Amino acid sequence: MRTYQIAPSILSADFARLGDEVRVVIDAGADLIHFDVMDNHYVPNLTIGPLVCRALKPHVSVPIDVHLMVTPVDALVSEFAEAGAAVISFHPEASFHVDRTIGLIHQHGCKAGLAINPATPLDCLDHVLDKLDVVLIMSVNPGFAGQSFIDEALSKLTLVRARIDAMVARTGREIRLEVDGGVKVDNIGAIARAGADRFVAGSAIFGSGDYSKTIAAMRAEIARAQ
Ligand code: DX5
Ligand code: ZN
Repeated sequence: MRTYQIAPSILSADFARLGDEVRVVIDAGADLIHFDVMDNHYVPNLTIGPLVCRALKPHVSVPIDVHLMVTPVDALVSEFAEAGAAVISFHPEASFHVDRTIGLIHQHGCKAGLAINPATPLDCLDHVLDKLDVVLIMSVNPGFAGQSFIDEALSKLTLVRARIDAMVARTGREIRLEVDGGVKVDNIGAIARAGADRFVAGSAIFGSGDYSKTIAAMRAEIARAQ
């Protein structure tokens, strides 16, 4: 039985009230808190770092899912692990040594994810899928909340789902298939059908008046898609 997880991205939360925002969205049913780190170098935007992660940690009773959109990657891995991250995902283009970065994330006791941009081919998974805990399919170009879902991500999800299922059958290790960007109530069913089991949503949740209602509507759409 596949389990499905909703990971609200705090990029669309009220940054002046982040502690309250995460507590409310967790009460509303969030399974993880997605934490978008942008460096104005790998992506054209600048957001939050390990200090904010550390400050939020006491307010967060679910795993913190850190999405690094930064280069270089490695120095930030230990900082985020110490600041309370449970999962750390990074982009293969942003690390000179992808396998080493995955090892570093594991050494720090976190789950490791590889984030795949819309134009990045899936062959970056060829020699590392057995070591990953998460494959993160970007359904927008990284950098901003509130962009439209790129439909090609659906076929990518289907391809990665088949690869993950084959790997899990061989090794028994859990690998999550996460999707990030433009996820809404009205497309989450199709995204679930394509194979995703962890859904990042920023503007759809934090831009709605009622986080509980939105998360419940997302879960209902996922259930309907079975
Ligand atoms: C984009 C970020 C996403 C973003 C999602 O670079 O990685 O996590 O915040 O926001 P929405 O759900 O609004 O597309
Ligand atoms: Zn993200």
